[in-house]
Formats: sequence, C-alpha cells, structure tokens
Amino acid sequence: MDNRRAFLKKAGALVSAFSAHSLFQELHAATWSELEERYRHLEPLEMAQNEDYWAVIQQGYSASASPVIILNNGGVSPSPIVVQQAVERFNTMANQGPSYYMWKILDQGRENLRAALAQLGGCDPEEVAINRNSTEALVTVIYGLDLQNGDEVIGSTQDYPNMMQAWKQRAMREGIVYKQLTFDFPIENDDIIVEAYRKAITSKTKLIHLTHVVNWNGQIMPVRKICDMAHAQGIEVIIDGAHSYGLLDFKIPDLGGDYFGTSLHKYLSAPIGSGMLWIRKEKIGKVWPLVCAGDPKSGDIRKFENLGTRSFPIEQGIGEALNFHNAIGTKRKEERVRYLKDYWALKAKEIPGVHIHTSLNAEFSCALAGVSVEGLTPWELERELMLKYKIHTSPISVENIHLVRVSPHVYTKLSDLDRLVEALKKIASQV
Ligand SMILES: Cc1ncc(COP(=O)(O)O)c(C=O)c1O
Repeated sequence: MDNRRAFLKKAGALVSAFSAHSLFQELHAATWSELEERYRHLEPLEMAQNEDYWAVIQQGYSASASPVIILNNGGVSPSPIVVQQAVERFNTMANQGPSYYMWKILDQGRENLRAALAQLGGCDPEEVAINRNSTEALVTVIYGLDLQNGDEVIGSTQDYPNMMQAWKQRAMREGIVYKQLTFDFPIENDDIIVEAYRKAITSKTKLIHLTHVVNWNGQIMPVRKICDMAHAQGIEVIIDGAHSYGLLDFKIPDLGGDYFGTSLHKYLSAPIGSGMLWIRKEKIGKVWPLVCAGDPKSGDIRKFENLGTRSFPIEQGIGEALNFHNAIGTKRKEERVRYLKDYWALKAKEIPGVHIHTSLNAEFSCALAGVSVEGLTPWELERELMLKYKIHTSPISVENIHLVRVSPHVYTKLSDLDRLVEALKKIASQV
C-alpha cells in the first residue's frame, strides 16, 4: 500500500473513537480491564470508597496534577488526557486540509457518535442532536416553539440565567407570560416542589422550564413527578440537564420530559464546547431550528445540526470521553462523586461558623454543594480559598442563595478535599 493510501486508511480508522484503534484502546484498555477484573465484585457504593481504583482514574486526568485544586467542575470540567490527545490528533488531521479531512473524513464519525450518546442517554439516536453546549440546546427549543401572545411558561428564578433571558426576550417580543417561582433550597420533600409548579398552572400554561440539578446549590429536582403532573394537564416540559447527563444514572426518556439539553463538557468531561439536544421523536417536527434548515418543519433531528463551520475535532473528541466514561460506568461515577461531596461536606458541617446549603441526602444532591462561613460574603470566602490555599471554587449570590459552590469530579483526590476542610477550619476560626 502506498503511503497516501495507508494514511487515508489510518485516518478513516481514527475518525471513530469506537473502533479498535481508538486512543482509549491504545492508552487505557488493558490496565482498566485488569482493574475491572480485580474489583468487579464491588457494588458502585462500595467502589466509591476504593482509593486503589480511583487512583488509576485520577492518573487519566492532567487536572489531577494541577497546583491549584480545581473544585469548580460544575462550571466546566477538564477532559481526560486521552480526550485532549484525540482532539489534538483530529485537529492535526483537519489542518492537513480542513474541507477534506473535516467534512469528508471526520464527519463520518457523527452517526457513530450520535448512537453512542443515545446509548448513554437510554434513548433513540434519532432523538439526539450534537451541538456546542446546553445554552445552544435549550435556547433552540425556547425560541423554536410556537407560542401565542398570552401563553404562559413557568420557570424559576433559580434556573440558569441564559435560559431566563431567552424566555424574557420572548415575553418582551411576543407577549408570552413568563412566570417564575422561587424556592427556599435545600428542600428534602418533593411534594413542596411539585405543588409549587402545580399551583402556578393556569388554563393558559403551555410549558414548564425545569432545571434537573440546580447549579447554584446542587438540589436535584423531582423531574419525573413534575413532568407527570404537567403532562396530565397537557403541559410540556423542557429539562435543563446541564449537570446531570454523564453523572447521574438515568435514561433521558424516563425523566418524562419533552425536551432535554445538556453540556457534554461538564460531568462527561468531553472537549470544551460540546453539547447535546434531545427531543421526543414526535415533537421534533414542530420545533423550528434556531439557525436554519432546508425543511424547518422536518422530523429529522439533524436539522438542528446546521450550525455552519465549527470544530469537528472537538465534536469527534466526544467519542473518547464516552469511552472513558463508559469504562467507569455511570452509577459508579455517580456514587464516587457523591461520596467526594459527602466526604468534605460532612466534615465541614461540623466546623463552628461553617454552614452547608445543600441536602446531604443522596436523593437530593450529588456532586455540587454550597458552603458559607459566617461573617464572610461568598466573594470573600472564595478569595481566601484561592489566595491563601490555592483552591478554586465558585462564589454564588443569586436571589436567596449565597454560598461558595464546591464541585469535585472523579479526578479529585481525597487529599484535595482534606485541604479544603482544613482551609475552612482556619478561615472560620479567624473571622
Ligand atoms: C443549569 C445550567 N444550565 C445551563 C448552563 C449553561 O451551560 P453552557 O455554558 O455549557 O451552555 C449551565 C452552566 O453552568 C448551568 O449550570
């Protein structure tokens, strides 16, 4: 085989992170299968505390060696090394001639990727569109649905700002009514939340906009119960799953919603700038595309992927993130990350002057939790943690929520969390 044909054959194989030539296969498959063999008997809850196992996972991330302890994975998560290398490899390939290597070679990986994303989401690939982030996914639906002047949408003041702004724009421009609830989180009773949405419904209500995991304090919302209640009254539900896909163990259709958007660069650890939109099959035709499509009323989910020229290396890098994630398994990952959250939060809760603003009941939280120190604003606490202890967190002050958000990931070491707890002790004792 001449060099050029050999190269093209290799390039073809490389487009699929799901082939025998995937980088995951090259870098991790053998070690991880030995590891799997050793610990197969452990249930996810037991595995959550097996430091031998997680030490291997930590080595897969360059972020685990960062001199600054990164505890804002809820904002955006780093990719494992294998994903970074895949993106670099695809980028090198694309730059040998972007119009050929991106559009003819890398693009061949899109359908495999759609299938793999759907498999993780427990849904039909024909319901999955690949895009760049949750904002793009959710705003596609928010702007894409036909609503009339006076139609009502119910959301909350604790939804994500981009989505609230999109709804407010529709209210300003078209006269829809956007009602917002406010919750006093943490709440450990689903009925309180479901009842609040139920009470806000009127004969004009068409939609509920719901955040699966509230990004401000980590509250997991009773999505299924709200969807069932809404559907019983002919109301559709849009779910913001920015913090749930790739972390919590669920199937998207089982949430009971009609539309679901997520960022793959959060807990899935896919390349930064990758997202996904899911729409229940029979609803695809009625959602107008945000950008454009030959047939805007088409029932083909691919009409939402007409985004113009964008980074195919980033998109194809998602495949290696799925390989990495699937080799761990969602339930195991969920339990580990919840364990990490409990590990620091249960200790922090006992420190005089320190408050935790998140339920530590497994049903109501996973990765994210909020902490505050009496006498300090969230900004002051975040600054102390960063300047004195080199711990990066996220200060939050919205509505009735004032805290520093801490969000570990699978690469976070227990020693990092010990450093956080020690820092909180010192800070609280010096206020
Ligand atoms: C609940 C929620 N929804 C949506 C988003 C937006 O995500 P992205 O910036 O990836 O679009 C975020 C970002 O943190 C979020 O927390």
